[in-house]
Amino acid sequence: MSQSLTDFLRVARDRVDSQLSEFLKNDLEFDEAMRYCVFNGGKRVRPALVYATADALAIDRQRVDGMAVAIELIHAYSLVHDDLPAMDDDSLRRGKPTCHVAYGEATAILVGDALQCSAFEALATLCEPDFVAPLTRALARASGSRGMILGQTLDIEAEGSLLHEDQLERMHRLKTGALIDASVAMPALLACITEHETLALTNYSRALGLAFQIQDDILDVIADTDTLGKPSGSDESKAKPTYTSILGLEGAKQKLNTVHSEAVEALSTISHDTTMLESLANYIVDRIN
Ligand code: IPE
Ligand code: IPE
Ligand code: MG
Ligand code: MG
Ligand code: MG
Repeated sequence: MSQSLTDFLRVARDRVDSQLSEFLKNDLEFDEAMRYCVFNGGKRVRPALVYATADALAIDRQRVDGMAVAIELIHAYSLVHDDLPAMDDDSLRRGKPTCHVAYGEATAILVGDALQCSAFEALATLCEPDFVAPLTRALARASGSRGMILGQTLDIEAEGSLLHEDQLERMHRLKTGALIDASVAMPALLACITEHETLALTNYSRALGLAFQIQDDILDVIADTDTLGKPSGSDESKAKPTYTSILGLEGAKQKLNTVHSEAVEALSTISHDTTMLESLANYIVDRIN
């Protein structure tokens, strides 16, 4: 990883972490469980995308802090619910017992619910009033029944069955891609950019979202549990259709390369400095956890 990317990821992580701790600073009993699921070592890829998009479009980082916080809270909630016994039934997340293992299933359901509410509270509190309505619409759409939740529904329904590649792609674009799309599209709402640039950024984030989940599928097969911080082989144990189960490991790697190139090509048509967005695309396909 290049030094500038390492530095950028650290700065983005520190920035969103301090915003998140300020936002979640109450010390009611329940907040402990919420904080357990937020401050447990996530990579903060989505906030990094928010900040890299803002930088590329010359938007002050401070103007997009609320988006980074809100998107990471939605992501944290999605992981808590994804790990539940009724969903993927996993007991390790980011190297620690999952929320339902640490606090019980009822608390984990409620933590997810509360994190989701907090995400929209963060948007309404931290973002500029003129933008709150379009941002709320974008985040709700990306994370709800036309986005991530639809993807998660398809994922659960698909357990034990063989999907066609186009069905698998649709599922991945929804369950993981939708929130990654929002991480680029939401900051871009603040910029005066051309239709062409908006489309190019959309093409970039769509390719990136798919790449992210293909690499997640690959890592589930090739990485060990300690490195992953979540159980290796979880997909196979639940007979989930994934890029590796449908295309094989080599086929999945080839698809990842193709989609990565699509992301990078999309950026080449934008006149702004998109170096860091490109570095993030490289990171997403090279990452080891
Ligand atoms: C894991 O996301 C779940 C998927 C959508 C594939 P991340 O790999 O971003 O998880 P953390 O936040 O770094 O733990
Ligand atoms: C999760 O996909 C997508 C979400 C919306 C959380 P996975 O089920 O593959 O994510 P991991 O591997 O458990 O992190
Ligand atoms: Mg899952
Ligand atoms: Mg899972
Ligand atoms: Mg996975």
